[in-house]
Amino acid sequence: IKRITTHTIREMKARGEKIAVLTGYDYSMARILDDAGIDIILVGDSAANVMAGYETTVPITLDEMICYASAVVRAAKRALIVVDLPFGTYQGDSSDALKAAVRVMKETGAHALKVEGGAEIKEAVQRIVNAGIPVMGHLGLTPQSIYKFGTYTVRAKDEAEANKLRADAQLLEEAGCFGIVLEKIPAVLAAEVSANLNIPTIGIGAGAGCDGQVLVVHDMLGINKGFKPKFLRQYLNLYEDISNAVGRYIQDVKAADFPNDQEQY
Ligand code: KIV
Ligand code: NA
Repeated sequence: IKRITTHTIREMKARGEKIAVLTGYDYSMARILDDAGIDIILVGDSAANVMAGYETTVPITLDEMICYASAVVRAAKRALIVVDLPFGTYQGDSSDALKAAVRVMKETGAHALKVEGGAEIKEAVQRIVNAGIPVMGHLGLTPQSIYKFGTYTVRAKDEAEANKLRADAQLLEEAGCFGIVLEKIPAVLAAEVSANLNIPTIGIGAGAGCDGQVLVVHDMLGINKGFKPKFLRQYLNLYEDISNAVGRYIQDVKAADFPNDQEQY
């Protein structure tokens, strides 16, 4: 099996092949995603929400991210593995950012990192890239800034915010990022930004003009009950399927129907 690299990802954009990305946080799920042929597994800090039950991505720690990322690395033979740097590890001193980045690379074996923001974090991005660590950017709705936004609604709808996003995208490409996630922005803006960049864009709620797409795996499998934004295509309703299976198991145990003669020694 040939490993997908940041180089492969850039070639995919050059030849117009869309890039398929899903999040992953654990060994068993990552093995399924990798065997199915996913290009990138993003160990997103959405782990805070879907794995750890936090209300936002703000509280998750570097140690927690390293734990999730290590499990994914042990599972994936082909996919490129990108890990979110959590809130607080790269927004201040760029030497602290580099330390956090180096920890993830050394302790997990992942291949790349993702950070949220543009001009504000330019120094940190450059410093990490200069150390030889591939960095993916993330613009638009950046959930680590939820308390600044105050809402999870679509970003960059006004011209000022759209212009800042255009400039940030160029800046991230110049700083050496190998790709940029565009989250919850108008499709027309995402298509324009994607066309103007040499590096690929990975959209979530950013329309068909992006070079790839990403979804949170729990959302697309229907595990995350009640979360159904417009951009989400839900491929399964695993919440219901798992709930039904567990209900049947409970019934079987209570009725002394499980285990049967063939299911014991
Ligand atoms: O944490 C995450 O899952 C993400 C993707 C939604 C882009 O950052
Ligand atoms: Na994230």
